[in-house]
Amino acid sequence: MALRYQALRGTHDILPEEIGAWQRLESATREVFARYGFREIRTPVLEATELFARSVGASTDIVRKEMYTFAAGDESVTMRPENTAPVVRAFVEHARHRTVAAGYPERLYYLGPMFRYERPQKGRQRQFHQIGAEVLGAAEPAVDAETIDMIVTLLDAVGVRERELRLNSVGDTATRARYRELLTAWLAPHLPTMCDDCRRRAVENPLRVFDCKVDADRKRLEEAPRVVDHLSEESAAHFAAVRRSLDAYGIAYVVDPRLVRGLDYYERTVFEIVSGALGAQNALVGGGRYDGLVEEIGGPSVPGFGFAAGMERIVMTMSEEARASDVPDVALVALGDAGFEAIPALAQELRRTGLSVVAPVAPRPLGAQMKRAERVGARFALFVGEGEIARGSYGLKDLRTGEQKDVARAELAGAIRDGRIAHGR
Ligand code: HAM
Repeated sequence: MALRYQALRGTHDILPEEIGAWQRLESATREVFARYGFREIRTPVLEATELFARSVGASTDIVRKEMYTFAAGDESVTMRPENTAPVVRAFVEHARHRTVAAGYPERLYYLGPMFRYERPQKGRQRQFHQIGAEVLGAAEPAVDAETIDMIVTLLDAVGVRERELRLNSVGDTATRARYRELLTAWLAPHLPTMCDDCRRRAVENPLRVFDCKVDADRKRLEEAPRVVDHLSEESAAHFAAVRRSLDAYGIAYVVDPRLVRGLDYYERTVFEIVSGALGAQNALVGGGRYDGLVEEIGGPSVPGFGFAAGMERIVMTMSEEARASDVPDVALVALGDAGFEAIPALAQELRRTGLSVVAPVAPRPLGAQMKRAERVGARFALFVGEGEIARGSYGLKDLRTGEQKDVARAELAGAIRDGRIAHGR
C-alpha cells in the first residue's frame, strides 16, 4: 500500500531508538555550557524576513534561495535559517547591552530547529537542528579562544574524536574594503570564463565568489589573493592573539586561508570544525566574530562572537557509548492472575523510587513476557506470583549474567539500583 503521507523531503522523524543520543547531546550541552557561564535563550522560529536579509546578507545563498519565507497578513515572515540574527535581535530589543560591562559580556546559548531549503543529502536536511552560542559585548581575542574551547570540550564529552579545527581571519571592515578592491581587480580578467554565479557575485559581493561550487572555478580561485595576507595591523594582532590563546588551551588547529564562511556578518576570526567521518557535508561547527552585526540591525556598537553546531552531524559522529539509548531498569513478569493483580502497585512503588519499569498491561504467558523483557533491553526481570507475594520476597534475575536471587520487597529498589551501577549506567 502506498503511503498517503510521508515526512517532507529533507525533514526527519527522530524515533525513540535514536532519541537517547539526542538527549545525551542536549544534556551534555547544558552541563558543559553552564560551566562556561552561558545561559539559554529561546527565541521564536518565525522572524521578520528583513532581519535575515540585513544580517546574513542579501547576496548569500541562504537568503537568495534557501529561506522558507511566506506572507502572514501583510508581513513577510521567515522560518529562521540560523539563530545568530534572532539572538542579536532579542539582545537589542531587550536593551541587554545595558547589563554588559567591560570584561563581562553576555553569554547565551540555544538549541533548536533551523530551516533551509537546500538540496537534501547525507548530513544535509531542510529542517535541521543547531546548538549555538553567542557572546555579546567583548571584542577580546580571549573570548574567541575560550568559546572555541567550550565547543571542543562538548565534542570531547560526547566522544566526537575525529575532527579538525580550521581557523582564518577575514579582517575588519577596513581590511575587507581594501581586499574587495584587490579581489575585484584580480577577478576582472577571469570573469568572462567563470560561471554565472561568480559573475553575479563579483558585482554584488566579491567575497562570495569563494562559495562557488564549480570545480574549475574553485581551482582558479586558489590563485586569488587571500584576505589573511592583507590584514590590517589590528586584525593581524587579534588573529595572532587568538592563535596564542588556542595554543595555551592546547587546542590544535590549522590555518585555512580559504575559509570565508557563507554568511556576511563575519569579521576577524572565522572557524569551522570538520569531521572526516561525515562525507561531503563535513562541517560539524561553524562560527566567528561579528563585531558590526548588532549595529547593523539597529543596536548600539557591541561586538559579538559565536558558533553553531549541527546536531544531526554531531549525533552521526558521537561515540557508541555516548549514543547508547536508555533501557528500562527492570521488567516486571507476572506469574498467574495473582501476580498480574499485584503488578500496578509494585510498578508504582518502584517508579516512585526513580527506577524505569516496564510492566505487562494484560496477562501474558511467561515466555512472551521474557522475550519482551529482552527485546526492550531491561537489565533485570522481576518475578511476581502468588508465592512471592506471600513470602514477601521476589526473584530478581540479572538479564545480562543470568544470575537470579531472592530479594525482600523493601530491598528491591536498592538491589536494582546497585545493579545499574554495576552495569556502569
Ligand atoms: P552555518 O555554518 O551556516 O553557521 O551553520 C552551522 C552548522 O549548522 C554547520 O556547520 C552544520 O553543522 C549545520 N548545518 C547548516 N546547514 C545544515 C543543513 N542544511 N543540514 C544539516 N546541518 C546543517 C551558522 O548558522 C551561524 N549562525 C553560526 C554562528 C553563530 N556564527 C556566529 N554565531
